[in-house]
Amino acid sequence: MRKVFMFVCAVIAVACIFLAQSFSQQKIQIAVLGKVVHPYWTEVEAGVKAAGKKYNIKTTFFVPLKEDVNTQISTLEGYIAKKVSGIAFAPSDPDAAVSVVKDALRKKIPCVTLDSDAPKTGRYVFIGTNTVESGKTAGEQMAKLLGGKGKVAIATGSLTARNSLEKIDGFKAALKKYPGIKIVTTVVDGEDAAKAFSNAEQVLLKYKDLNGFFGVYGINGPAIGLAVKRAKRSGKVKVVCFDTTPDIVKLLKEGAIQVTLAQSPYAMGYKSVEILYQMITQGVAKTLKSVPKNRFIDTGVDVVTKANLEDYKKKLKKLGIPVKF
Ligand code: BGC
Repeated sequence: MRKVFMFVCAVIAVACIFLAQSFSQQKIQIAVLGKVVHPYWTEVEAGVKAAGKKYNIKTTFFVPLKEDVNTQISTLEGYIAKKVSGIAFAPSDPDAAVSVVKDALRKKIPCVTLDSDAPKTGRYVFIGTNTVESGKTAGEQMAKLLGGKGKVAIATGSLTARNSLEKIDGFKAALKKYPGIKIVTTVVDGEDAAKAFSNAEQVLLKYKDLNGFFGVYGINGPAIGLAVKRAKRSGKVKVVCFDTTPDIVKLLKEGAIQVTLAQSPYAMGYKSVEILYQMITQGVAKTLKSVPKNRFIDTGVDVVTKANLEDYKKKLKKLGIPVKF
């Protein structure tokens, strides 16, 4: 009888610990702020949700309609006012985010950046692409496609976000080795899809002898690819861009885009939540011991062409990442 009683008590104690734990887990709320309504950010959101499910915590995700620094800042202020447990954000303008992030950190809300960094804010970690290196890779790919000579245009969504500026820097640095390649123009669209398309069309109209077009953001590849296709210059104007959203993959298959550098938006979302969860439950100092000294978690880039698309797809499936193309 006594044994049965002890057993029942033990079961009740374990159940209480379990319930208490899951109750306090549910109180953890991690807020993620992205940059723009776009399929790339939907992939980030999928990663955020998957990590929230794994750790049994609440997550929220928000993106402005297009590049919108003010909305980003007021959203961050809202997160602080709500006293969320941790924040991951991708600033369209890193300088504009300094004071609000410092305020969050002062209030003991751990902050990390994803996709685009803002080191001056004091954020603990950056989770994303090695932007300078990936820009260099894009430059090398372009030089290879052009055989070392020709006229190239650049289109980007932002001239303030660090990931855009660094990808462009890397691209230009790689092309320095090829004096036969000239960059004729750089156009910017503020992550507005309609503007990205009209920019691409205008560049193609103005530069009839354009040989290459580099799309820095996920919003640029489809705009350039479509404009090139409509101008019947597919293959004549070589396109190198970033990301593997379904519209990009379609244009890659059709031959309007030659190379795309696949970032890992799902991993950025997942790992941001995971690392914040560790910071919240184990402490910031302990968590930081497990990250690289430079506080950069590199989520990697794959060079994807029509030829290796299927292999890339297999790789994603093996990693358990949902494939949308
Ligand atoms: C960039 C993001 C951007 C997205 C959509 C990605 O390549 O990393 O910063 O918001 O494209 O344009």
